[in-house]
Amino acid sequence: MLSDRIAKISSMSSREILVEGRELRHMLKPRLGHENLGLGVGLRTVHFAHILEHQPEVDWFEIISENFMDSAGRPRHVLEQIAARYPIVMHGVSLSIGSTDPLNREYLKKLKVLAASINARWISDHVCWTGVAGRNTHDLLPIPYNESTLSHLVERIRIVQEILERPLVLENPSSYLEFQDSTMSESEFVCRMAEEADCGLLLDVNNVYVSSVNHEFDPVEYIEAIPARRVVQCHLAGHTNCGTHLIDTHNGKVIDPVWNLFQLMHQRTGGVATLLEWDADIPPFPVVHAEVLKARKYMDEHLPVCDQDFSTETVANTSSTAIPHPASFITAEVE
Ligand SMILES: [Fe+2]
Repeated sequence: MLSDRIAKISSMSSREILVEGRELRHMLKPRLGHENLGLGVGLRTVHFAHILEHQPEVDWFEIISENFMDSAGRPRHVLEQIAARYPIVMHGVSLSIGSTDPLNREYLKKLKVLAASINARWISDHVCWTGVAGRNTHDLLPIPYNESTLSHLVERIRIVQEILERPLVLENPSSYLEFQDSTMSESEFVCRMAEEADCGLLLDVNNVYVSSVNHEFDPVEYIEAIPARRVVQCHLAGHTNCGTHLIDTHNGKVIDPVWNLFQLMHQRTGGVATLLEWDADIPPFPVVHAEVLKARKYMDEHLPVCDQDFSTETVANTSSTAIPHPASFITAEVE
């Protein structure tokens, strides 16, 4: 029976799932039934004019939901024109799924209305909290990984999914500290959260890399632990090396170790919608687009399962001055 097979898969390791993947693929609805949209780019206001004028051959765009949900002006008008031509995915930064504040039902209502108006393929946010006592910090803050926070998130994800009437897709965060109250690894937490809440995952391979350097864990083990059938989307981005730690600044190009992790993710999932985030020192649109198209080089299905060196990059003795705030992109300017 299907339920027995699914129960068996839930208790299997990722390697065993890979072995049986061919047999079970038709039964498991990989990516929760969402299509692989191809290679996309984060929609940013500085590129509006270029996109409208040149209609570039981009597979899809991801928007920051909050930049459009309260706007009825030019941004919304431009978005509607772009949504008429390209698939759009909504990526939020204020759901605050990990907070102890009550869920903001007004916010969820606005998300739902925006998603319907632009035919958003799915709605994503982050495994984090962004505020408490009604205050929004505009930062993606980490949570302890333990049974208590897990049950808290699972319950809230289920409620959000009922309100939105669709699966929620949640992204692994980049982080700069760990909690003594954590009793499990981030990858175990994310896996259990996805299975128990029945939600999707946005696997940000740059975040995995950044956190793996900051907290000294193995990024390959992390990606191999993630249930591939739940991965709906992938994020790529650049980051900043501060010498003693990495910061997820979304500036610059994707570095080779992150591309190698992307290749592993691609081989494990069979390919999912992939998007490049570039939010600081944003270059002209063709440069951003060219960067995400490099992913094609790593998507050759005949490539052997990664045996490349994923060891961390050399930590440079660089100054940390002029580093953008880790989540400065969440309050991106809206024209
Ligand atoms: Fe991301």
